Amino acid sequence: MTLRKSLVAALAALTPFVATSAIAASVTVGFSQIGSESGWRAAETSVSKSEAQKRNITLKIADAQQKQENQIKAIRSFVAQGVDAIFLAPVVATGWDAVLNEAKDAKIPVILLDRDIETANKSLYLTAVTSDSVHEGVVAGEWLAKNVGSKPCNVVELQGTVGASVATNRKKGFDEAIAKHSNIKMIRSQTGDFTRAKGKEVTESFLKAENGGKNICALYAHNDDMAVGAIQAIKEAGLKPGKDILVVSIDAVPDIFKAFMVGEANATVELTPNMAGPAFDALIAFKEKGTVPPKWIQTDSKLYTPTDDPQKIYDSKKGLGY
Ligand code: AHR
Repeated sequence: MTLRKSLVAALAALTPFVATSAIAASVTVGFSQIGSESGWRAAETSVSKSEAQKRNITLKIADAQQKQENQIKAIRSFVAQGVDAIFLAPVVATGWDAVLNEAKDAKIPVILLDRDIETANKSLYLTAVTSDSVHEGVVAGEWLAKNVGSKPCNVVELQGTVGASVATNRKKGFDEAIAKHSNIKMIRSQTGDFTRAKGKEVTESFLKAENGGKNICALYAHNDDMAVGAIQAIKEAGLKPGKDILVVSIDAVPDIFKAFMVGEANATVELTPNMAGPAFDALIAFKEKGTVPPKWIQTDSKLYTPTDDPQKIYDSKKGLGY
């Protein structure tokens, strides 16, 4: 190969990378984030910033403090600013059509992160990067069924935010899994709004209502933060979380691995905080080559228990902004 030919070949090999970088560098994304109700949410915000930085994308984050009305305002403001795309982590599943139509009219693609919406018009968003949250509930329920065997087991449940797709789905999946086992009964279920404080408060009321907790065999929480609050309540009631009451939850935040290390929690299903990375990649491919992503980019749901080297996992996660 001549020198000229090899230079051309080298440049051709570099071109896709340069083009992607050039496009990414001129892209501004507005992210309507729910708030900071949980360690997982804090990590998602922090990982989104670093994933944007890696790609030279400008990311503007609006914190909605758990309110849909604030998210709607933020989306309108992003549309007015003429951003190139909008990421939306929808606090609840319904009520988005009008504002997403405004984004569509302005030709601004919307990508859903970590939660779904209910709409008859799927063209209102480009793609959704989420886990299979029904499956997360199934994994948690099957873990419980396997671990209690044929013993009778009364379960209490801490649900996530009312109306959030992940709360509805995590309940559905868990209920489906335990329905196959007549020895396992759901005796109480209430929202803890995905926060530690509410998780603790609601667990205290469960314990009081159930003979100081003696009637309860297991607690299922829709996220680890509520489980950590519940663990505190169980200890204060004089019982041993992880032994007297089994604790299974979702997210795999560093604090649940700390609880694994001292035997106070039993299982968690991981939800990656990196939803933005795949969303940025789909967006750049769409802008650069017109590649339409699949409607659902699914992230993994891995089960962890105390046998999975909790110290190592804790160390690998603790720098991620949880
Ligand atoms: O939508 C994801 C859920 O929202 C996480 O499991 C929970 O911790 C968060 O607040």
